[in-house]
Amino acid sequence: MIGRLNHVAIAVPDLEAATALYRDTLGARVSQPVAQAAHGVTVVFVELPNTKIELLHPLGETSPIAAFLAKNPSGGIHHVCYEVDDIYAARDRLKAEGARVLGDGEPKIGAHDKPVLFLHPKDFCGTLVELEQR
Ligand code: CO
Repeated sequence: MIGRLNHVAIAVPDLEAATALYRDTLGARVSQPVAQAAHGVTVVFVELPNTKIELLHPLGETSPIAAFLAKNPSGGIHHVCYEVDDIYAARDRLKAEGARVLGDGEPKIGAHDKPVLFLHPKDFCGTLVELEQR
């Protein structure tokens, strides 16, 4: 069911320092910071030949990654995102298998303007999983 790894998201306490690390130390192509107010994050996209890394930094008071950074002050992997061909079919199959879909179970428009869902980390090896419509 799942297809390509679309991205790995890493929460970072210092977005400028993390961007410099990926650009200068690791030699990757990085974007300008993109504020995504609807998602409570500022994102820097790191383009790799086969996937992307997204550096996430909290934006606003109610950012969903603020608590994560409070628990992981030096940052850490926040979620992985897999592509699916049909997000509704994927959701229905996962629910039938007993997996928990976060929120109200309806896909939301994600960071790339495509429908996404998040799956409960306790059901997926301790990892928050995002599914994105291909
Ligand atoms: Co994501």
